[in-house]
Amino acid sequence: MTDGWKRQASADRKRIDQALRTELRGCKGVPRRLRQAMAHSLFGGGKRLRPLLVLGVHDALAAGEADAGGSRDVALRAGAAVEMIHTYSLIHDDLPAMDDDVLRRGRPTCHVAYDEGTAVLAGDGLQALAFGVLADLGPRASEMVAHAARAAGPAGMVGGQQRDLEAEGQEVTARMVERIHRDKTAAMLALSLALGALVRDASPATIDGLLGAGHWLGLAFQGADDVLDVTATSEALGKTAGKDDACGKATWVRVEGLERARARARRYGERGLARLEQILPENEATRRLHDLCGYMWRREH
Ligand code: IPE
Ligand code: IPE
Ligand code: MG
Ligand code: MG
Ligand code: MG
Repeated sequence: MTDGWKRQASADRKRIDQALRTELRGCKGVPRRLRQAMAHSLFGGGKRLRPLLVLGVHDALAAGEADAGGSRDVALRAGAAVEMIHTYSLIHDDLPAMDDDVLRRGRPTCHVAYDEGTAVLAGDGLQALAFGVLADLGPRASEMVAHAARAAGPAGMVGGQQRDLEAEGQEVTARMVERIHRDKTAAMLALSLALGALVRDASPATIDGLLGAGHWLGLAFQGADDVLDVTATSEALGKTAGKDDACGKATWVRVEGLERARARARRYGERGLARLEQILPENEATRRLHDLCGYMWRREH
């Protein structure tokens, strides 16, 4: 593995932050405290993985095409939208009624820095803003909105969060954990890959293939999150370590122990990578995306 993807990711993170600032600034008439709360959560130390996936698929499909520059700006806006939905999900995930966390992205959580009511509304505001952005993204915008609604909605991320809450402290199987992780996390990661392809006007087969790859990569990503909750420090994570065990969360670590959970995340991740390779053309951008995806379960924070 080369470090090319790291250089690209660090340049793209700056572009993503810029795109997020532009979207937030472009939204007029927002109460000052609500705007501050939204910005507080958006601009902590997020890895920006989801927008990086949007850009990665875009670049893999755009390599050598004359219009690649223009569509990259659209991909950046799509990435900003998915990051806003993700950030909203984190704000609500941290609320006292859910995981009750005080630290996120190296900062106090939104409800701690502001108040619970403002945090609920900051999440709601980011979600609505995100759908407004997607609706503005050209000829395939309505498909983007439909995919995002499915991934973020009650049969996707929100449904997974409900399953996660209901499973707290319960006896669970590896299969039940897989269902939770698919819905609460993999759906949004798969969406990110699909959005990159929609920006490039890809075929339904390509989009379906990417959703399939994203499923496995997303499971690997949440599997790694659960492992890191046990093995990493709060300082490295920018969020409170050791929470899952304290809350009796449904994780593969709890079901089968650390080593097997780690191996499972790697196995699923490699399955996702193999799918990705079948779908995307062979080029430098695809190789970078491959390395970025590998980092999803090899990461240390
Ligand atoms: C945290 O997501 C929540 C999960 C789905 C595991 P990330 O690990 O991508 O968090 P940020 O965006 O980098 O803060
Ligand atoms: C969160 O899963 C998934 C979301 C949809 C936000 P976790 O509860 O494990 O995420 P962290 O560990 O708090 O980031
Ligand atoms: Mg949670
Ligand atoms: Mg949590
Ligand atoms: Mg976690």
